[in-house]
Amino acid sequence: MRLLEDDAAARLGEARRKSGFDRAALSAVYGPDAAAAAGRGDYRALLAACGDDPFDVWARLFTVGTAVPERAAAAALAPLGLDEALGCGLLVRSADGVAAGWGLHFAGEAVVFSDQRPNTTGARSRDHVLGVGGASELLLDATLRTEARTALDLGTGCGVQALALAGHAETVTGTDLSERALAFAALNARVNGVELELLRGDLLEPVAGRRFDLVVANPPFVVGTPGEGWTYRDGGREADGVAAELAAASTDLLNPGGTMQFLANWLHVRGESWSERLAGWFPASEASVWAVEREVLDPLDYVRTWQRDSGESGEAAQAAAWLDRFDELEVEGIGFGMVNVRRTEGPSEVRCEEARHAVETPWADRVAERFAVLGADLSPETLWNSRLRLAEGVALQQAAALGEEGWEVERQWLRQRDGMRYAEEIEPLLVAFLGACDGTAPVRLQVQLLAETYGAETAMLYAQLHQVVRRLVERGFLEPV
Ligand SMILES: C[S@@+](CC[C@H](N)C(=O)[O-])C[C@H]1O[C@@H](n2cnc3c(N)ncnc32)[C@H](O)[C@@H]1O
Repeated sequence: MRLLEDDAAARLGEARRKSGFDRAALSAVYGPDAAAAAGRGDYRALLAACGDDPFDVWARLFTVGTAVPERAAAAALAPLGLDEALGCGLLVRSADGVAAGWGLHFAGEAVVFSDQRPNTTGARSRDHVLGVGGASELLLDATLRTEARTALDLGTGCGVQALALAGHAETVTGTDLSERALAFAALNARVNGVELELLRGDLLEPVAGRRFDLVVANPPFVVGTPGEGWTYRDGGREADGVAAELAAASTDLLNPGGTMQFLANWLHVRGESWSERLAGWFPASEASVWAVEREVLDPLDYVRTWQRDSGESGEAAQAAAWLDRFDELEVEGIGFGMVNVRRTEGPSEVRCEEARHAVETPWADRVAERFAVLGADLSPETLWNSRLRLAEGVALQQAAALGEEGWEVERQWLRQRDGMRYAEEIEPLLVAFLGACDGTAPVRLQVQLLAETYGAETAMLYAQLHQVVRRLVERGFLEPV
């Protein structure tokens, strides 16, 4: 299936370049306030400023979502013919001329077309091809942008991740079950002048036996929708099987040292910790994993969210069946987050964390920091001889109540100003330990001094401290020097 022949897609790309229409220009031409307001769905300033020149026509069609006269559209899209634009669905006729039949999104330097038209709500077709949404943006932001020989985008959709990968990988492969999605990906590759290998098939099947340096996936992760489903969100697996399948295949998909990053939903099942559930999906060896849970929805909120997303909010019977299924599975909540896997040597190590707050972006920096410590030897013996420093931007906060002898500290936290912006409650003993973490003395000396001060036995004290010190290193509060 093709939406436009290669030559016509290249002419569409040329028309867009000639018009100068991109995210930065939108702000430069209409002013940052008008562009920001449009981003929130308030198009008054843009509507007032838009005339009939090609840039304005692109903005009216693809940002505001209003119709334009045929002649203006023909001039703005040349050298693509108006008949070609109407023939492929890029434009549709309307009472006031022609309007956008596809959506256009910006992603870094690239522009991507998809079925997601501007300013539209309502039911989506079963094979709807998504544009660039919040999940796409999260994965774009989290992807490690290091040079790679081979990269794979599983469930490529309109190709937005694959196009970004092409900026730092020699060859990029995109896969999808949907023919229409692959047609958009091919068109977008042409429009942006990028080469992609595009393969059709179910999840891992099109790349069976192949390995990559970098794999990304914003897969159809929605859990347990009964019935036929929407290709863009339902992977056709039982419960959170899509995530489980990707996790299980991760090391086989990667070259040694390679990285896989994917978004997922996972179940919170009564009596089971979500992190143990996740950890159980990975191979026993060669996987170094950092999974971050960004949010948890209760089943009802989850069902409502996804019903709204596909435009089926009114379907009470469908919601009931969906909720019944969650009850059968004893689901208490559905987590959403990001899973980062590196193929290493030795036994697998899976770290799962909750981070519901705003972290310092780009996420890719957080992922790189975490992989750096995941690979480090933080055994009791190694930490014993290392020197640790409190990371920059870490502060101690205390809550105190007025007692008989003045302020009495009741609770204390370490808080990071930057990076993951974690806060962690700590014990008084640790406060004393951390106060001396300036990178000059080895941990063993610090622990010995503490043991003397508290009249404790050094080995016992270290046994007590090691786990928490290790955790503070892993979470970036402490840095080995
Ligand atoms: C959430 S969209 C992600 C699109 C794009 N990669 C992004 O980041 O915005 C998921 C994609 O997975 C595709 N898909 C659905 N089921 C699939 C399956 N069983 N195997 C492969 N791809 C599938 C859908 O067609 C859709 O394009």
